[in-house]
Amino acid sequence: MSTTTTSASSAAVVKILDLEAARAVLAKVNQEHLLKYASELTPTQRAELLSQIASIDWATIPALVQQYVLSKEAGAAGGSIEPVKHYPADATSSAGRGPWDRTFYKQKGIELIRAGKVAAFTVAGGQGSRLGFEGPKGCYPAGSVTRKPLFACLAEWIIAAQRAWCAPGKTIPWYIMTSPLNHEATVSFFKKHGYFGLNERDVMFFRQGVMPSFDMATGKVLLNQKHEIAVNPDGHGGSIKALAVSGALADMKRRGIEQLSYTQIDNPLVKVIDPVFVGLHAFAPDSSGQMSSKMVAKASAGEKVGVLCVVNGKTGVVEYSDMPKALTEATNADGSLKFNAGSIAVHVISVKFLEQLTGGGGFSMPFHRAEKKVAYVDESTGQRVEPVKNNAVKLEAFVFDALAMCEKSIVLETIRRDEFAPIKNASAPGASDTPETCSQIQTERALAWLAQAWGVGGSGGYAGAGQDCVLELPPTSAMEPEDLRIKNIRPVIARGAKLVL
Ligand code: UTP
Repeated sequence: MSTTTTSASSAAVVKILDLEAARAVLAKVNQEHLLKYASELTPTQRAELLSQIASIDWATIPALVQQYVLSKEAGAAGGSIEPVKHYPADATSSAGRGPWDRTFYKQKGIELIRAGKVAAFTVAGGQGSRLGFEGPKGCYPAGSVTRKPLFACLAEWIIAAQRAWCAPGKTIPWYIMTSPLNHEATVSFFKKHGYFGLNERDVMFFRQGVMPSFDMATGKVLLNQKHEIAVNPDGHGGSIKALAVSGALADMKRRGIEQLSYTQIDNPLVKVIDPVFVGLHAFAPDSSGQMSSKMVAKASAGEKVGVLCVVNGKTGVVEYSDMPKALTEATNADGSLKFNAGSIAVHVISVKFLEQLTGGGGFSMPFHRAEKKVAYVDESTGQRVEPVKNNAVKLEAFVFDALAMCEKSIVLETIRRDEFAPIKNASAPGASDTPETCSQIQTERALAWLAQAWGVGGSGGYAGAGQDCVLELPPTSAMEPEDLRIKNIRPVIARGAKLVL
């Protein structure tokens, strides 16, 4: 396997239209303004525009405009919403579906990994607009001490997992979804960094599809330039179709991959492959082994994360913005939040399930609307405008909507500090999920694991060491606290130290 560069949207390109045919297609769906500047374009630019027009499924556009752009109602959660019963992080607890046998499921997960039946899958096609970083978000420096990029943080987990669990000759292939907007930059970053120590044959990149971006007030598709339609990646939910269209699914079949461990790119602490989660997903009696999810206890009622719930009898995620306020704030008798299962966007998905979803043709996921700033060519002046406030609607599919198509789906709780330190927002006083909060969690986790491995007091003294130090604990040193003991990693941490363990 090599650096495949198939595009999910390329399958939709049936032919290059000529100008008149394009005009006819666009007129039918009230979008003929896209050709307003056609006569000013060079032949190359005109060909580019016509090819882009040919790649879009225009017949679907009017209904999408009505449902998602001109109406704001589409996202609101309807029907019955109940709290989900999860497998508690403390497997001895009787909360949710506990107690449960962590050791057994870990062993079952390791068996699948050892046999080379589990691959890593990272969605990295987003635009990272909140962070405001130029370039793919995976290139962002995230190591608290080393400043190593997010891609390297995830690659190191895969390297550590391969060493720990794979049988000789077996590996953990890594599938990375890019978008047409960041694909080349992502692939060249990997080349430049020697695939972060992974074998090039085990890393496959594929592009997700795109959707046109719409003017929020009129539903007209925006022009990014006179010869280019404004588009956005079609959401992490676009990954399901893209896996099939790009040939990634076929590649997995060839390799004997049965389960995919799905993670996002923006969390350097993510367990890219977690044998406990893989084992539980594949073997728990109440799991159909199709798609499972991880949760953390919400930090507060108002935390802006999707919530894992039972929606109309099925496990699903309700976006924080779609959750009725009364449910967001509802509490149990002991004061804890009733809807406490914050989604951290970590799933295991079976290859069989993906084939089932995409096999019959005509597969589609519902869209969600997002109001964003999108640069556009102002038709009244012909000038390109960088808007200062939201002017556009982007349509994105969300991967968790596939949960509704599962027969039975389980949820595993995990400890936030151990696995969840996303970088979403740019640095700002009081902001959450920033590079600073991420770095702080990395230090807190390292100290907590040292204390767990060696005790909080005594010569380790880790309980008091943290005040001014910055620590980074790469997965190649420890994937869990116990590894620190096994490898005898027991540093003395001076005040103010900056240390990679
Ligand atoms: P986010 O929802 O945080 O979006 O993506 P984002 O694009 O990274 O950032 P903003 O909202 O513009 O600030 C969560 C994960 O889903 C991936 C992202 O790369 C990230 O790993 N993603 C998102 C895609 O792969 N494709 C998309 O179209 C959207």
